[in-house]
Amino acid sequence: MSNILIEKLIAEEEIARRIKEIGQQISSDYKDKEILLICVLKGGVMFMTELSKHISIPVDMDFMSVSSYGNEMTSSGVVKVIKDLDEPIKDKHIIIVEDIIDSGRTLNYLKQILEGRQPKSIKICTLLDKPQTRKVEVNVDYVGFNIPDEFVVGYGLDYQQKYRNLPYIAKVRKEYV
Ligand code: PRP
Repeated sequence: MSNILIEKLIAEEEIARRIKEIGQQISSDYKDKEILLICVLKGGVMFMTELSKHISIPVDMDFMSVSSYGNEMTSSGVVKVIKDLDEPIKDKHIIIVEDIIDSGRTLNYLKQILEGRQPKSIKICTLLDKPQTRKVEVNVDYVGFNIPDEFVVGYGLDYQQKYRNLPYIAKVRKEYV
């Protein structure tokens, strides 16, 4: 038998401060332009909604769901589109918003699909990045926090669909009893 232990890694206030900074950076980088934020469900939803509040230029939002993990704690490498965007992205400035980049496979795949639809520009914004675990190269434009190779939950991230609602980021450990 095992118990799941949750240990706080990044506090709510620290996340809020960093998201505000990224929002200001995006507003200045895209001054006098409009952007489309593309949320990668489900993990990216809390980050994108909070981020959007700190962007002062006009913002549209759309949502896409790409499954890569199932209920496992490590990446399977299998990527599948569950839900596509509602609107075309041709000639738009788009920013893909993710909760975490691990192997990079999800974003590498997603970026290729979206590039094929001819947006005016495409950037990637992630709350968390695990650079040490990268298997496929991805250019990331905005990063909230670099984290070590730990399984994390909270602020949109789940373990077996739980803990997404935690207002902070926490490490998950299994304690065998
Ligand atoms: C997680 C996360 C990223 C992806 C990152 O999604 O939200 O999309 O894995 O991993 P990678 O860099 O190794 O590809 P998940 O499939 O767990 O879906 P969820 O967001 O619905 O929890």
